[in-house]
Amino acid sequence: MEKEIKWWKNAVVYQIYPLSFMDANGDGIGDLKGITSKLSYLKNLGVDVIWLSPVYESPMDDNGYDIKNYLEIDPIFGTMKDMKHLIEQTHQMGMRLIMDLVVNHTSDEHHWFLESKKSKDNPYRDFYVWRDEPSDIGSVFGGSAWEYDAQTNSYYFHLFSKKQPDLNWDHPILRKNIYKIVNFWLDMGIDGFRLDVIDLIGKDIDRKILSDGPHLNQRLQELYDECFKGRDIMTVGEMPGLSLERAASITSGEKPLLDMIFQFSHISLDEVPGKGKWALKKLDLIEFKNVFERLQNVMYKDGWNSLFLANHDQPRAISRYGNVNFRVMSSKMLATILYGMQGTPYVYQGEEIGMTGVKFDHIEKYKDIETKNIYQILTNQGIPHEQVMESIYAKGRDNSRTPFQWDDSKNAGFSKGNPWLDVNPNYKDINAKNDLSNHQGVYFYFKKLFQIRKSHQVFLDGEFIPFMKENKKIFAYYRKNENDQLLIIGSFSEEKMHIEIPGKIISLLISNDDSVEINNQMDIPPYYACILRIGEK
Ligand code: GLC
Ligand code: CA
Repeated sequence: MEKEIKWWKNAVVYQIYPLSFMDANGDGIGDLKGITSKLSYLKNLGVDVIWLSPVYESPMDDNGYDIKNYLEIDPIFGTMKDMKHLIEQTHQMGMRLIMDLVVNHTSDEHHWFLESKKSKDNPYRDFYVWRDEPSDIGSVFGGSAWEYDAQTNSYYFHLFSKKQPDLNWDHPILRKNIYKIVNFWLDMGIDGFRLDVIDLIGKDIDRKILSDGPHLNQRLQELYDECFKGRDIMTVGEMPGLSLERAASITSGEKPLLDMIFQFSHISLDEVPGKGKWALKKLDLIEFKNVFERLQNVMYKDGWNSLFLANHDQPRAISRYGNVNFRVMSSKMLATILYGMQGTPYVYQGEEIGMTGVKFDHIEKYKDIETKNIYQILTNQGIPHEQVMESIYAKGRDNSRTPFQWDDSKNAGFSKGNPWLDVNPNYKDINAKNDLSNHQGVYFYFKKLFQIRKSHQVFLDGEFIPFMKENKKIFAYYRKNENDQLLIIGSFSEEKMHIEIPGKIISLLISNDDSVEINNQMDIPPYYACILRIGEK
């Protein structure tokens, strides 16, 4: 008997960053009603699953990744009724919805933390990590990971901002409380979770083991048993610190601990090794290809992978890996290369219309806590403003957080009020209305690509075999199973290129320039991409 294919393996997931997607009530902030009003736009693209970045009650120090109350919707996004309506409407359209689960830390305004800091014998004390002395662990957002609190003369641990104290997963009662929250949402009918920095919940702080700590599997297992077991849901874990082999093992087997993970080995290739994300380095396509080859091969045998180039923490893919001077061509090329691989495709809002990164001239225009912190830290170190801004232009998280560009009206049709973060000034040209009015637009290309993926089994189960491996400008590979062989080609070159294709070309499935003649000796324009079916030699 054929093994049943899990629905999420063949799904297209679309990430919504609620603050920036659509503002229905004109206060300048995206909201749930705004999202509900755009469901048919998503359905039409071929989206199966919506992943909502956090909409829980939050002081928004880290834009909702600092949760004050897990069981309430933040009023800036709407009400619980709006949320239920969104879930219902999403389901009615045949789509599913997953939420972001942020349980490595809470907000410092969460009532657990307010209690915890009151006294050493407070019942909530051990929900968080307190020590008499700090260690030298640094925060991801810069500075120490320890914050002194005078009330009890001790330090609490925060791997992110100091308004995001880490929860103490060693504490059984804390864990029980988390499971209650998870089940609350699943019982309400959502279809799963994206689990924020979930590789951190097994950490051993005193031994300075953070990611993939000694308790990780055991904790994931307990979470699975208490919450996920027996439910028809999908789970995707954000696991920046996990090795590929571990990622494969966590997502493998009949009942994987998590259905799939976000793995980040391709993300750090444009930084100086060991110097962190702000130390810029030019991307080497060979390295990029090698990382994906390894990713595909390791995850292929076992496990399941998520295909993504961008998200709310990463700059826009087109500005980073493509070329804004060849915006439409390179948006389509990147999609072809990425979604031709094995794994579940993720689209980050705006990618499907070729939205680009942004350059604000004043640091005051930036809203992201990470960007603001790093600006202070680097300029205090004496690094000139211009140089720091270059790093922020390349890597800052606000690149992908500017409001969605719906049309060419004021504020790109995102809001009738003052947007919380400025709209990218290129919205008159780059917007959904424009893109959709053109059959050669990026949106329709994504749509067609997803249809092709879904109608060819080989995308699901085909082996990944690199082609033109040594070529510094072309990323190409085969996908091959018993019945089918596809060749996926993408050019990262600003110049025309010539490629030789061995074997018999049976058909063209898709390309980003239909004027190019398909044969065994092809001359291809800059940023060309295509998928060919190849027969036996
Ligand atoms: C994850 C989120 C990021 C957030 C961090 C802390 O990496 O994606 O946006 O800042 O966790 O919650
Ligand atoms: Ca609003």
